[in-house]
Amino acid sequence: MSEPKIKFDLRIKYGTEYGPEEEQAVLDVLRKGAPTSGEACIQFEKDFAAYCGCGHARVVSNGTAALFLSMVALDVGQGDRVLTTPLTWIATAAAPATLGAEIDFVDVDPNTYNMDPDQLAEKLTPNTRAVIPVHLYGQCCDMDPILALAGKRGFHVVEDACHALGAEYKHRKSGSMGVTGCFSFHEQKNISTLGEGGIIVTNDADVFERVALYRSHCTRVYGNSTKYCRLDEAKVPMGKRFWWQDFDDTGYNFRMTDIQAAVGVVQLRKLDEFNRRRIANADYLSAGLREVPGVTLPVVSPGCKHVFHLYPIQIDPDEYGMTKEDFVYAMLGERGVKVGTHYIPLHFSTAFQKRGFSRGQFPVAERLADRLVTLPINPRQTNEALDYLIDSVRALCRR
Ligand SMILES: Cc1ncc(COP(=O)(O)O)c(C=O)c1O
Repeated sequence: MSEPKIKFDLRIKYGTEYGPEEEQAVLDVLRKGAPTSGEACIQFEKDFAAYCGCGHARVVSNGTAALFLSMVALDVGQGDRVLTTPLTWIATAAAPATLGAEIDFVDVDPNTYNMDPDQLAEKLTPNTRAVIPVHLYGQCCDMDPILALAGKRGFHVVEDACHALGAEYKHRKSGSMGVTGCFSFHEQKNISTLGEGGIIVTNDADVFERVALYRSHCTRVYGNSTKYCRLDEAKVPMGKRFWWQDFDDTGYNFRMTDIQAAVGVVQLRKLDEFNRRRIANADYLSAGLREVPGVTLPVVSPGCKHVFHLYPIQIDPDEYGMTKEDFVYAMLGERGVKVGTHYIPLHFSTAFQKRGFSRGQFPVAERLADRLVTLPINPRQTNEALDYLIDSVRALCRR
């Protein structure tokens, strides 16, 4: 299949946009020897915690590490049950699964594609330790009923906010509502720290201490050297002339570098403007696609600020006249547009079939997976490019 030549960049849907400020930030840190876990990381953590309205933030190497460390900090392991949704990236479920926890899924709401709180209530058992709601595509889950259940039934809520940087639920920032909030700065996300990166936010000082320890080999340094360890992790008794190192437990290295964090500081300042442009582009797409038969547009729930990490539409094969697979193929082959297919339900994967799951268990997610595609959206798109996208979806309908 040879792809048609078009003047718009609709094959690359990555959202990252860097400018001279990021270039300068990289150079500045490079000239300081490009350390790991230095001043820029501390600055980024302060700025990000303030942005989310949280007491603490810790940078990590990626969103997967943020989820994993949250589970470690909450002591999730064998004998515990963790619930999430089947419509997510495998990292959400892999974090608790690799620690030996039992994973189960909660089906999704057919309109928002997020975890259905009514079905969550039915899935709770006494050994349910944590629930990981995923703010899919950039819109927060309906958090009030999830948090109310957590209060009543005593499980931890860990927000997977990897898609939802800057999203809001009833004026609360994504990531600030659970015991931890986990973010990714992968190159496709609404802001990035040079292709990879992540952060954990929390208001819980004890959880934060465990996150900080396990992120960096559970190192405690006593004395006055900070060579291998950040001061705030080290609890250094001042006034000693020597230092020694101890490890509270066996931990990990999930640190971020200062070059990444320096870029993160600049990107965070731009996040609201990037999101404003994403929302404007989503509105433009929705206006243009409203009348297309067989296309279901994304729904923004009342009280939510959806930040459109992705722009999902459903393709009804009967009404639209084409299956999702044919649509994806025709968009690329005939129109040069790369359409995404986030996500194939996790219980279809070998990893979860091996754990006893089978098709048919989560009918809403399964039906959506047959129909959901994501159109490329990013802050750089011009109206001309969006018009081309709209024309492409119209042109393939019932032809
Ligand atoms: C919903 C969700 N959770 C977690 C992650 C993991 O983030 P990372 O790729 O930074 O490890 C991703 C990444 O795409 C994601 O989409």
